[in-house]
Amino acid sequence: PSSRVSLTVNGTRRTVTVDNRTSLLDLLREHLGLTGSKKGCNAGACGACTVLVDGHRVNSCLTLAVRLEGAEVTTVEGLADGDRLHPLQQAFIDEDAFQCGYCTPGQIVSGVGCIQEGHTGSPEEIREWMSGNICRCGCYVKIVRAVEQTAGRK
Ligand code: FES
Ligand code: FES
Repeated sequence: PSSRVSLTVNGTRRTVTVDNRTSLLDLLREHLGLTGSKKGCNAGACGACTVLVDGHRVNSCLTLAVRLEGAEVTTVEGLADGDRLHPLQQAFIDEDAFQCGYCTPGQIVSGVGCIQEGHTGSPEEIREWMSGNICRCGCYVKIVRAVEQTAGRK
């Protein structure tokens, strides 16, 4: 069975009809063409699919799209202001906080959540609250630095 769901994605209201088993990640990538959020494990273990739902970080691969009636979703595509990068996106570039880049959209969205939650008191605290985001390239030191630097600027 399928259902109609209306939600706001990066500030735009979208109404789609999806199979009831569709994840938010597949809704974003396959129905809305927003391929910034990545599919790593598709099982809640890697964080590559992290998006904000009503301001909270979620693994979109584990979230059923039909449950999101009326929700506000922010993906990595929604962070920049036109051509102006979000400060954390800029910090990832400045700190050279990625290699292959596959985990990066999830790291950045998760980092934005981490900063909004105020879990940035120390590198250890940032590591703890970013621990759901795995980087196979091992860029953790620089990722933490980028989050720390952005949090410090606010
Ligand atoms: Fe969602 Fe890995 S793809 S947590
Ligand atoms: Fe390659 Fe993180 S930059 S997985």
